[in-house]
Amino acid sequence: MKARMDDGTTADIKAVWFENGKVRMIDQRELPLKLVIVDFDDYRDVAEAIRNMTTRGAPCIGASAAYAMCLAGLAKADLDEAAKFIKAARPTAYDLFYATDWMYAKLKSGADPIDAADEYADITVAKCRAIGEYGGKLIKDGMKLMTHCNAGALATVDVGTALAPMRNAHDAGKKFFVYASETRPRLQGMQLTAWELNQEGIDHAIIPDGSAAYYMSQGVDMIIVGADRIAANGDFANKIGTYDKAIVAKKFGIPFYVAAPVSTFDFNTKTGKDIVIEQRSEEEMTMVAGTRIAPIGSKALNPAFDVTTADLVTGFITEKGIFKPSEIAEMKE
Ligand code: MRU
Repeated sequence: MKARMDDGTTADIKAVWFENGKVRMIDQRELPLKLVIVDFDDYRDVAEAIRNMTTRGAPCIGASAAYAMCLAGLAKADLDEAAKFIKAARPTAYDLFYATDWMYAKLKSGADPIDAADEYADITVAKCRAIGEYGGKLIKDGMKLMTHCNAGALATVDVGTALAPMRNAHDAGKKFFVYASETRPRLQGMQLTAWELNQEGIDHAIIPDGSAAYYMSQGVDMIIVGADRIAANGDFANKIGTYDKAIVAKKFGIPFYVAAPVSTFDFNTKTGKDIVIEQRSEEEMTMVAGTRIAPIGSKALNPAFDVTTADLVTGFITEKGIFKPSEIAEMKE
């Protein structure tokens, strides 16, 4: 992804990578004000970085888990213990489990830890490029698009899922506009999606989460979001606030697409009711920059994701093509 550096130059940077014996990643909690790179040489610290959202977004969580397993492999740690520890970082994103198992199998078969983790990250980016090619064709000149949370390069190592079609269409010279909903309470839409769109020069505006229905009533041509876990029936978990948007999109007849690699599909989970939804801390809701802004004594609830039912989905944009919810069994690996 493009990133303007402090000295005014533009660098091509990934969300997570391996360099000089360390796992390096963009600290996504610091964007857009600062581009901070952090590094780790212990798999437990990478797991903690997933938990505390230094790194985030389902496919990037997957790649970070692959690099955590890489560190475990290099340290000759007990791989069963490491895999268990890494998988406990967050419960919802299926890529975390998919990537950890993928690396476990590679390491058990004697693969080089760094080569294997790099391969996993490269495969993730290649899938995103394919998603961009399929999804880019859906975007026409003059369209108004909407997205939620951040399903961009930051969330996938590079390129993105929901943002991949936008990058592809932009590179093809198409002109379109993106509504990026801010995504409370962690503000991934405002701080990360807007940062990426800005870096790419894609016309956009940040909107309050609660204004999505208003803008849809004024005319939105298509919605593209990412996913954290997609059940076998096409129900899917994504950032809290996705379900509202899907329901409103149905009311206005707006096509609603989910962009995700096949590693986000959990065919062992039958329906969305079986997806574990992460509940995060009250403090993420009640505090801003270390200051409490809610009344002392008020409780806060902070589900990180919701489940959108398959009937609201127009199609899943994957590296294997675009599938209706009724067709997704065809892509089982
Ligand atoms: O809590 P986060 O920031 O990890 O949640 C991210 C999302 O919900 C994304 O939309 C999803 O992971 C898809 S990322 C390509």
